[in-house]
Amino acid sequence: MKSILVTGGAGFIGSNFVRYALEREPDCVVVNLDAMTYAGHPENLVDLPDSDRHIFVEGDILDQNLVEKLLRENNIDAIVHFAAESHVDRSILGPAQFIQTNIMGTFSLLEAARKVWLEEGSQTAPVRFHHVSTDEVFGTLGPEDPAFNENTRYAPNSPYSASKASSDHLVRAYYHTYGLPVTISNCSNNYGPYQFPEKLIPLIIMNALQGRPLPIYGDGKQIRDWLYVEDHCEAIYEILEKGETGETYNIGGNNQPTNLEIVTQICTILDEIFPDSPYTPRKDLMRFVKDRPGHDRRYAMDISRIQRELSWEPKENLESGLRKTVNWYLSHMGWLESIVQDEAFEKWIRANYSDQKGREA
Ligand code: NAD
Ligand code: TYD
Repeated sequence: MKSILVTGGAGFIGSNFVRYALEREPDCVVVNLDAMTYAGHPENLVDLPDSDRHIFVEGDILDQNLVEKLLRENNIDAIVHFAAESHVDRSILGPAQFIQTNIMGTFSLLEAARKVWLEEGSQTAPVRFHHVSTDEVFGTLGPEDPAFNENTRYAPNSPYSASKASSDHLVRAYYHTYGLPVTISNCSNNYGPYQFPEKLIPLIIMNALQGRPLPIYGDGKQIRDWLYVEDHCEAIYEILEKGETGETYNIGGNNQPTNLEIVTQICTILDEIFPDSPYTPRKDLMRFVKDRPGHDRRYAMDISRIQRELSWEPKENLESGLRKTVNWYLSHMGWLESIVQDEAFEKWIRANYSDQKGREA
């Protein structure tokens, strides 16, 4: 892949992917299209390796004309589609934006790719549309259920996961109907550098550092399959290079701790680093708060297909990945401050974490 259009590349996973691609593929150019919503930050794109090969475009994936122009002018041969509204809690409070961005936005991108790549035939090299999706499309698992595989039926439970499920179906349909060369990956929860502190792991690190309450939804025994973000980027790249068009691949971290275990582990790491802090032991900051409506109990990914067919394995385990993540946040306090000082973020935290959810259940 020589010229990659990354959508949502100023967000968490997208910015990690831009960095990864520039490093892995010394010849490639990355065009990064991002609307800079509350989740996109220019600070995520500082110190890129060989930044001359990175072209940032502020714009909306819903602007089909703009996407078509970018495809033509940059001779794009791969689209890696991250742009989305990504936070389940926000989708419960306001689903409309999720339908707009995740469904209509994906549709707009598919239409642009169909027009420029298939109708105009402007790109003679092989092309690929890779859609980045989530394990949440499969719904929730009981304690004894087998992990999700690529054939598990879709059963989304939140407006977020329903909008992602819908976008997966559109991508699939463009392969079967128009022959657009697509691949889809469904990945489990990511964590690592540049994650916006509204998601569990960075929120807990941030609050634990500041001695603020650590909100645990419900009984805290929900289970997620955590993957270090660089491992996700590598898996996507392997799919781009070696994945079969029209196919989907499950990606996960092969570990399924409860939320309580995750929070405890972060507290232990911070206590070790700052034994003399007034907030030690930080597990005393944990607060059980009102549960999220429709909260999925357990996710687990069967990743045998990508292991077998593309020889991909996660490199980090939870312990090593969490330590790297805590150290990254500690060495990027300026990044965290610039995000936290953002007025919109403060308002969101006050409304959703301090006042309502911050109340003990
Ligand atoms: P994020 O919220 O951190 O970033 C999303 C980015 O998309 C932001 O930079 C935002 O500005 C941009 N964006 C939003 N609407 C846009 C639009 N209309 N046009 C252009 N850009 C727009 O999200 P993330 O956590 O990095 O997730 C990226 C993708 O990966 C999403 O599609 C998500 O569904 C998927 N995913 C995330 C996880 C996870 O744990 N975070 C796990 C599996 C899959
Ligand atoms: P989150 O990071 O929002 O990801 P997702 O909802 O996509 O899985 O949440 C991860 C888990 O942590 C989920 O079970 C909800 C829970 N959670 C808390 O217990 N407290 C919090 O403050 C947040 C943000 C999440």
